[in-house]
Amino acid sequence: PNDDIANQPDNGGLAGSPFLRACRRLPVPHTPVWFMRQAGRSLPEYLRVREGVPMLESCTRPDLIAEITMQPVRRYAVDAAIFYSDIMVPLKAIGVDLDIKPGVGPVIADPLRSADDLDALRPLVPGDVPYVTEAVRGLVGELGSMPLIGFAGGPFTLAAYLIEGGPSKNHERTKAMMYGEPELWADLMGRLADLTIAFLKVQIAAGASAVQVFDSWVGAVAAHDYRESVLPHTRRIFAEIEPLGVPRIHFGVGTGELLGPMGEAGADVVGVDWRVPLDEAVSRVEPGKALQGNLDPAVLFAPWETVERRARDVLARGRTAEGHIFNLGHGVLPSMDPDVLARLADLVHEASAEDAS
Ligand code: CP3
Repeated sequence: PNDDIANQPDNGGLAGSPFLRACRRLPVPHTPVWFMRQAGRSLPEYLRVREGVPMLESCTRPDLIAEITMQPVRRYAVDAAIFYSDIMVPLKAIGVDLDIKPGVGPVIADPLRSADDLDALRPLVPGDVPYVTEAVRGLVGELGSMPLIGFAGGPFTLAAYLIEGGPSKNHERTKAMMYGEPELWADLMGRLADLTIAFLKVQIAAGASAVQVFDSWVGAVAAHDYRESVLPHTRRIFAEIEPLGVPRIHFGVGTGELLGPMGEAGADVVGVDWRVPLDEAVSRVEPGKALQGNLDPAVLFAPWETVERRARDVLARGRTAEGHIFNLGHGVLPSMDPDVLARLADLVHEASAEDAS
C-alpha cells in the first residue's frame, strides 16, 4: 500500500490516524467513523452561529467555517473532521450567479444550456478562495492529530445543478445534453473536472489530509453511459490529485450498478450507499480499495436496539473489505437527534475494538 503519509516524520501525529490508515488498508485498532454532512444540519449550536448569515456567506468567513467544522468534532467521537463548505462554493467563486436556498438547495440564476454559456466557467485560482486557504490552515493547527477531509463536487452532480438550474428529480436536460451533444458535454465536464481539481488542490496545499469527491447524483446514469461520459473526467481528477499523496474517496448515491467503474476511476476508497451491503460491494469494486459506509440514515430514527443491531451488521460486513471506514449511506438528515449520532460513534469504536482484540 501507498503509505507516504506514514513515512513523514513531521505530520503532527496524523500517521497513526485510524481514518487515514483504513483509507490505506492498513491495520487499525478500531473501525474509524465520521458522518457525511456531520457539520451543520441538526446541531443547535450550528443554527445559532448561522442565524442571519446566508449559507454561501457562511462559507466565505474563516471564523464561521472553523467553528462549524469543529462543532461535530466536539460532540461526536468521530475520527475525522470534514471541512465546512459546499460543492457550489468554487462555482460561486469563479463568478457563477447562484444561491443556496434554505430547504431547497442550490439555485442557478442563468442555467447553462449552450456552448456560449460555458465561457462563464473560467479556471479557479487559489486567490479566488482565500477564505478556504485561511480556514483550512487554522483548522489543521487546531485539529492536531485529527485529519481534516477536504471535498469537492463530482462533475456530473455539478453539471446537473448548472444545467437544470436547481435540484432535479429526473435530470432530463442534463442527460439530454449528455446523450445528444457529446462534444458540448465533454467540454463542460472537462471544465468542471478542472474546477474540482483546483478546489481540492487549494485544500490539500493548506493542509487537508484526505479528500472526498461527492458525485452525489451520478447514480442516475447507466453504467455504459457512465463509462463513456463521466468516468474519463473523474479518472483525470483522481490522477491529478494522486501525486499530492493524500487518500481520495469517491462517493455517489444509488450507485450500486456503478461501483465497478467508480472503483476504476482511481480513488483509494469507494463510498457505498445503504442499498448495497458492504460484503456485496466488495465483489463489485476492484481489489485494492477500501470501502466507506453504509448505514441507512433513516435507521437512526428507529429504536436504539435496531440502530445497534444494524450498525453491528454494517461492521461485520465491512470486515470483508480490505479497509473499512464506517459512515452513513448518505448524509446526516436535518431532523436527526445528535445524541443518537454520538451514541452511534461510540458504538462503532467499542464494537470494532472488541472484534480487533
Ligand atoms: O458536514 C459536511 O458534510 C460538510 C459540509 C457540506 C455541506 N454541503 C454544507 C451544507 C458538504 C460536504 C456539502 C456537500 C454537498 N452540497 C453535496 C454533496 C453531499 C450530499 O449530500 O450528497 C450536495 C449535493 C450539496 C448541494 C447542497 N447544499 C444541498 C442539496 C443542500 C441542502 C439544501 C437544503 O436545505 O435541504 C445544500 C445546503 C447545505 N450545504 C447545508 C449545509 C450545512 C444546509 C444549509 C442550511 O443549514 O441552511
